[in-house]
Amino acid sequence: MLKDPARIAVMVSGGGTNLQALIDAEKKGVLRSGLIELVISDNPEAYAMERARENGIEAVFTKDENEMISLLEDHGIELVVLAGFLKILSPDFIRRYPERIINIHPSLIPSFCGKGAYGLHVHEKALAYGVKVTGATVHFVNEIPDGGRIIAQKAVAVEENDTPETLQRRVMEQAEWKLLPAACEKVSAKIRRERMGK
Ligand code: GRF
Repeated sequence: MLKDPARIAVMVSGGGTNLQALIDAEKKGVLRSGLIELVISDNPEAYAMERARENGIEAVFTKDENEMISLLEDHGIELVVLAGFLKILSPDFIRRYPERIINIHPSLIPSFCGKGAYGLHVHEKALAYGVKVTGATVHFVNEIPDGGRIIAQKAVAVEENDTPETLQRRVMEQAEWKLLPAACEKVSAKIRRERMGK
């Protein structure tokens, strides 16, 4: 970990496999310009909270967006990572963090995104359409759901007998869990450079 790493908060709603990928990336030195200081969940049962606690990271449950903002400000958060976070954030929240909120989406945006396209539904849509290639996208978050500037994408093959579950797993393993740590490192390094006036 570099000196004075960018202060990261990860927002979650579910199993937290993307959070786990970020935690593992910190341990492996893949994520070295940013440090996860806080995990916020809008779901008290999210296993992601357990993953945070197991790794000594402060984990807070709240559904209240104003409380989320206070938590981020109290912790001096510089980068907000949405990792399986299902709540749509308000324009006011988003405006507070221009180009400092990133999201991982389990398809190659602009395919299979926008309203109702989250979690397993994304893979159901991909299989229903019959695409031969899908993947994941990391993008900045703006007021349009899944509409912000794309940071990175990675393609993943759809296989003959895929179910939504088998496809989701492959997209996670081959794309999401690689893209998100790399994107966090890239944006965290930029934050550190900007702090040093470079
Ligand atoms: C997954 O569908 C993932 O593609 C999306 O959110 C869901 C849960 O991810 N980003 P996680 O296991 O909670 O990180």
